Amino acid sequence: MVSLLWWILKCEQKSAFVLSQNISQSGLQQASLPPRGWNSYDSFCWTISEEEFLQSAEIVSQRLKAHGYQFVVVDYLWYRKKVTGAYPDSLGFDVIDEWGRMLPDPGRWPSSIGGKGFSDVANRVHSLGLKFGIHVMRGISTQAVNANTPILDTTKGGAYQESGRVWRAKDIAMPERACAWMPHGFMSVNTKLGAGRAFLKSLYEQYAAWGVDLVKHDCVFGDDLDLNEISYVSEVLSELNRPIVYSLSPGTSVTPAMAKDVSGLVNMYRITGDDWDLWEDVKAHFDVTRDFSTANMIGGKGLKGNSWPDLDMLPFGWLTDPGSNEGPHRFSKLTLEEKRTQMTLWSLAKSPLMYGGDVRKIDATTYELITNPTLLEINYFSSNNMEFPYVTSSINLKHPGGKKRRPKKGIKASFTHSLGLTGCSESKASGWSIESLNQDLERICWKNGLENKHQATFCVHKRELQFRLDGVSMYPADYRGKHQLVATDRMKFCLDASPKRKVTSREFRRGTFSPCRWDSNQIWELNSNGTMVNSYSGLCATVEYVEANVNSGGIRSWIATGRTGEIYLAFFNLSEQKTEIYAKTSYLAKVLPDKSITSCKGKEVWSGTDVITTQGTISMNVEIHGCALFLLNCN
Ligand SMILES: *[C@@H]1O[C@H](CO)[C@@H](O)[C@H](O)[C@H]1NC(C)=O
Ligand SMILES: *[C@@H]1O[C@H](CO)[C@@H](O)[C@H](O)[C@H]1NC(C)=O
Repeated sequence: MVSLLWWILKCEQKSAFVLSQNISQSGLQQASLPPRGWNSYDSFCWTISEEEFLQSAEIVSQRLKAHGYQFVVVDYLWYRKKVTGAYPDSLGFDVIDEWGRMLPDPGRWPSSIGGKGFSDVANRVHSLGLKFGIHVMRGISTQAVNANTPILDTTKGGAYQESGRVWRAKDIAMPERACAWMPHGFMSVNTKLGAGRAFLKSLYEQYAAWGVDLVKHDCVFGDDLDLNEISYVSEVLSELNRPIVYSLSPGTSVTPAMAKDVSGLVNMYRITGDDWDLWEDVKAHFDVTRDFSTANMIGGKGLKGNSWPDLDMLPFGWLTDPGSNEGPHRFSKLTLEEKRTQMTLWSLAKSPLMYGGDVRKIDATTYELITNPTLLEINYFSSNNMEFPYVTSSINLKHPGGKKRRPKKGIKASFTHSLGLTGCSESKASGWSIESLNQDLERICWKNGLENKHQATFCVHKRELQFRLDGVSMYPADYRGKHQLVATDRMKFCLDASPKRKVTSREFRRGTFSPCRWDSNQIWELNSNGTMVNSYSGLCATVEYVEANVNSGGIRSWIATGRTGEIYLAFFNLSEQKTEIYAKTSYLAKVLPDKSITSCKGKEVWSGTDVITTQGTISMNVEIHGCALFLLNCN
């Protein structure tokens, strides 16, 4: 925290200089508008080649650049050799240099041969009038740790030396902080060590030298939070001559409170797990997006400019499957209504728009959707963006004062415990208390939210850490006062915050008991205020009682104002039933305080129909999973 504060102060002091430098370069602050572009992940997973990437970049430049799509981004594992046995979490196929830094796989990226890295690709991208982005992982690769490569000191040249010796990968690596969703690939480095910082600096200086304009930094945010690494990388980027947009991904279980620690250090940060072409994924974005707009996080202060909550790529058109070993081979499973809903929410929330489908095979409907001028105008230039809570559907109107549907009698709701992770300063995190069972057994229980009698108390037993020093350097001092939490009925199983699979907003489940092992995801510390900190992410555990099979949905609405005083109003139908949605025009003024509104007229964007308010009400039938988008002039 001290270093973060120091960094913020330092940043404030420098801002005058940075500002004038940026104005002379581009006339704009960094990411003053939500970044827009194309990313290779949804269509190529990790397997993209240089030829495929440059073909795609050319099409982005011809067809999308004029609509603001400016970045082309190579997603993860560009350094992994595409040979039999290599897959997203395999070990032993990565290309590294003598300093343990990742190099593009020369089989897939032939222009990198001869130590050129991504320089030729970046040049080609720049010549198309676009900007070049790459995905990078947390810390250091397992491959570099196994090879125990020396650390490059970019300030002095040659190997990093301190206390009269050369420092190597094993000195800075933290094997117990392996990336939870790619445990064989990467692990954190200790940023408290000069050599750890020198290593990170050597990476980002190289990216800048290649001509990179955006880095998408993975496995450092959300449940994988590594605030030390984010803070230090942000510092390195701020000191480079080259402006580099700093993006964090993914953002599983991120809350506004958690994001406030990083939003000023970066330019975009994901606020959910991965989004794929599934309705449940789209729907899962509504609540979290509302929370970030309510907390005023949209377009807040960021690294050398602004920062944007990021809702993830748009998985439309011709795609691949998550975590697969192949390129594009199937169409998006979203219906047209669902795609419109996604594009409309993303635009109204001012999310970065990164198209994910194969641009070489983009269909006309997808192309029209992602270049829709009204949506792109909203995405860049609207303000007062927020959820509009004053809508109602015909079901309620037809039965004024109508009863809420209650669960049928005799059917017991079934609850399950689910572990959540949240910022430790949030009051809901203080729910743990400890009791002694006997001399050497202590029990820790979650005491919050016990209003429902059907819910059993959730308890674990406390166990001292058992260090296993198997030839890897450990930092026992960092783990003093910490312990593992054992299941009350199975002493060899420990509470573990690791995800089970690569997380998406849908698949995500943490907090299982797994066999006890030396892993920071299993190491916890109970604070005197009743919070329980996880050593992997620094986030605190909560327990929720989740009702099984709840059918959420219903109707939602968002509102924003345009550059010339127009009002954008969207109705979303997340339910499984067709209903008419109503909004009273007088309520529009409630969220737009400088206006007083009696009547509006305008158009519904998707149908092109004229809209005139009758009796102070705007209404429309909205298809299942679909949306209506009104462009209104009100007075
Ligand atoms: C509890 O204590 C920890 C450690 O002192 C602190 O970081 C955290 O913000 C506190 N949380 C609450 C909810 O009081
Ligand atoms: C949502 O869509 C379903 C299915 O078409 C429809 O029955 C229902 O009326 C719609 N709801 C709203 C609020 O428009």
